Amino acid sequence: MSKSKPTGVTRREFLKRIAAAGGYAATYQAMAGLGLLTTQSGCGTETLALTEGNGTQVIILGAGVAGMSAAYEMSKRGYSCKIIEARNRAGGRNETARHGTTLQEIDSVQTCNFDNDPGLYANLGPARLPHHHRNVLGYCKEFNIALEIFSNDNRAAFFHDSKAFGGQPVQTKRLLADSRGAIAELFAKTIKKNALDEDMNAEDQEKLLAYLKNFGDLNAQHQYTGSSRAGFKDTVHATMTPGVIQAPLDFKQILTSEFWDYKMHFAEGTDQAATMFQPVGGMDKIVDGFYARVSGLVELETEVLEIRNTMSGVEVDCKNLNTGDTKTLEAKFCICTIPITVLRNIPNNFDTAINVAMTGVTYEKSGKAAFQSTRFWEEQGVYGGISWTDQDITQMWYPASGFHQAQGIIVGAYIWDEAQCVRFANQTPTERIESCKLQGEAIHAGYSRMVKNGITRSWHKMKYQQGAWRTDLPEIPEILQGAIGQVYLAGEHMSMLPGWQEGSIISAQKVMEEISHRVEL
Ligand code: PHE
Repeated sequence: MSKSKPTGVTRREFLKRIAAAGGYAATYQAMAGLGLLTTQSGCGTETLALTEGNGTQVIILGAGVAGMSAAYEMSKRGYSCKIIEARNRAGGRNETARHGTTLQEIDSVQTCNFDNDPGLYANLGPARLPHHHRNVLGYCKEFNIALEIFSNDNRAAFFHDSKAFGGQPVQTKRLLADSRGAIAELFAKTIKKNALDEDMNAEDQEKLLAYLKNFGDLNAQHQYTGSSRAGFKDTVHATMTPGVIQAPLDFKQILTSEFWDYKMHFAEGTDQAATMFQPVGGMDKIVDGFYARVSGLVELETEVLEIRNTMSGVEVDCKNLNTGDTKTLEAKFCICTIPITVLRNIPNNFDTAINVAMTGVTYEKSGKAAFQSTRFWEEQGVYGGISWTDQDITQMWYPASGFHQAQGIIVGAYIWDEAQCVRFANQTPTERIESCKLQGEAIHAGYSRMVKNGITRSWHKMKYQQGAWRTDLPEIPEILQGAIGQVYLAGEHMSMLPGWQEGSIISAQKVMEEISHRVEL
């Protein structure tokens, strides 16, 4: 992933693109602006304006969140939908591993050996829901899916960078407090040297100094000498004496580290900031919710061999992966949610320009690992949240629920930088697990002996996914955004929110409306 993804620059770019895109995107923005996406149920689909389908046949390729939400909404409105899914389960990248789950990649098979306990699961794909993703939250509400708080931010978790602080993990609260303190002190100095005289009058400079004193927890001389915000040296309140404030971390070392690159403010990104949620018991509760409503329309283990526009509709050749039988399905329209990485290798009779455009679409690879373990991190006061490292594993996620239970699932790697993803993917599952254990030692001594039952997932090694999510840049070519004859592309990759279920649902809404508009004519 581009490290700039969660920053304001990308957000501005995002808003710019919404404005430029017009159509559904502008509508979405306008709806959000008017508060229409926070209707009582919070479900954007309430405002979905679809013409009655009167049996119009729609073939949907892919039973992920985009495909199932389309089938659900369209069949409610009289369209005759059928979903073709290559894998033996619905859900696509929304996949949760628990006791007995088989994890098959193109060159390996793993079995999840977590204990048989509903609290012991790992979300291999999506794992968090932002509070403003009204559509996905709306479906959670509609399907009675219980949610609980998920937190990216944990001041008691760690930041580890092999280039700084002797490679020792540092508590996030120290890094944040000491960064702010150092910045505030430097800024106060520049004010005192009259460097801002041209920009601010004396009164405002006084106010700014007061602001900085609070912002950085500076002393009366506007120096930063450490703060209780960074946590105390030893046990807090062990006796009746006050806690000892630690000396600030060396700011030069903070600058040397990658802390400030994007990790420091990751939890402030629009899509990552509190309040975040997760479904109780696993993200695939969302899959279950949809599947309970559309399973009758889904043909699993059926691979798409070829897609053709015809004079009057669309034909899809497919193969039953169990029997090897092939057949041709016909429909008026096709909603194709197959990731572009896979779709571009499926024969079709689309214009050459469409096929050329597809070759230019890029995906993040992304990989994850998860382990079962006693909750040793809770003994250190770490409840949920993320530790960051400059090692390949990049992130460690502590479980956001089940506190103080005997066992928990720790995400031992969540990788999104290209080189790291490739290194991870190219290992066998056993090698991945061993290397994750080793890297985990840098953050938690003794880690490799405590964690067990490791599982891994590399999304670009999944035959029917071949990637984790579309990279935000370059943008999806315009030529892929409209009708390709009778075929419409949908999925997270066709949205302004690549890598989010919300994006999948919004993209499905867009194509449903476009199809409905053609039915109307
Ligand atoms: N939605 C995914 C996540 O939260 C992937 C993603 C990460 C998408 C960062 C965009 C930015 O991890």
